[in-house]
Amino acid sequence: MEIIILPDADAVASTTADIIEEQVRSGRSVLGLATGSTPLGTYRELIERHSRDGLSFADAQAFLLDEYVGLPASHPESYHSVIRREFTDSVDFTVGTVHGLDGEAENPAAEAGRYDASIAAAGGVDVQILGIGTDGHIGFNEPMSSLSSRTRIKTLTEQTRRDNARFFASQNEVPEHVLTQGLGTIREARHLLLLGLGEAKAAAVAAAIEGPIAAACPASVLQLHPHVTILLDAPAASKLAHTEYYQYTLGRKPAWQRF
Ligand code: F6R
Repeated sequence: MEIIILPDADAVASTTADIIEEQVRSGRSVLGLATGSTPLGTYRELIERHSRDGLSFADAQAFLLDEYVGLPASHPESYHSVIRREFTDSVDFTVGTVHGLDGEAENPAAEAGRYDASIAAAGGVDVQILGIGTDGHIGFNEPMSSLSSRTRIKTLTEQTRRDNARFFASQNEVPEHVLTQGLGTIREARHLLLLGLGEAKAAAVAAAIEGPIAAACPASVLQLHPHVTILLDAPAASKLAHTEYYQYTLGRKPAWQRF
């Protein structure tokens, strides 16, 4: 894993946007998009590069990581709505190329299978953006998820529903179920970018990078992936013990290691 510790959230956003830009400029690309707060700075940066530098997404496709079950796509907090509001409607994706899960599907298992098949039919994800939950989840693969899981319905933990209550009027309104790409699905993306911002993520980040590979911390499965870049601000990196092995751009150490 390539671990890059940056001074602040803006630096994480611009470094992540650099990686996405390089991918998108290299030709037809399939992007994996996360929602939640963490990637918002990256999306703002990409929107800015689209209007300022002509960075075009016309030849790209996107697949969302997950969706709440039971929320209509038109609900302002459905991930269908969030990604359009925060990113894709402000750039030039071709209509029909931003794909998500149908949280209202009558048969969630069939919807999950359809989604995995549509990712495969698109040729797989080139670059996948991931956030991390305070409990170590990626996508909505909560602790004890199978490390090989496919897209499926999951129940959110109380901790995640509490964490996400800020997007709703109250915690009671946070849906209990989600459809999420599985850990096995996520691991098929060719390049994974895990972003961590803020001290609240520090324990999960340390467990993911330095702990054992274990279902208790689903993000630890990234240790098995051949191409992972983890971009952290200083507070999110604050519980890492073995920082001598990581690449700093804080000015404390030279950038000495590229994978
Ligand atoms: C969202 C997702 C989640 C979030 C995670 C962190 O699509 O898959 O794994 O990335 O819950 O959320 P934030 O960024 O809001 O702290």
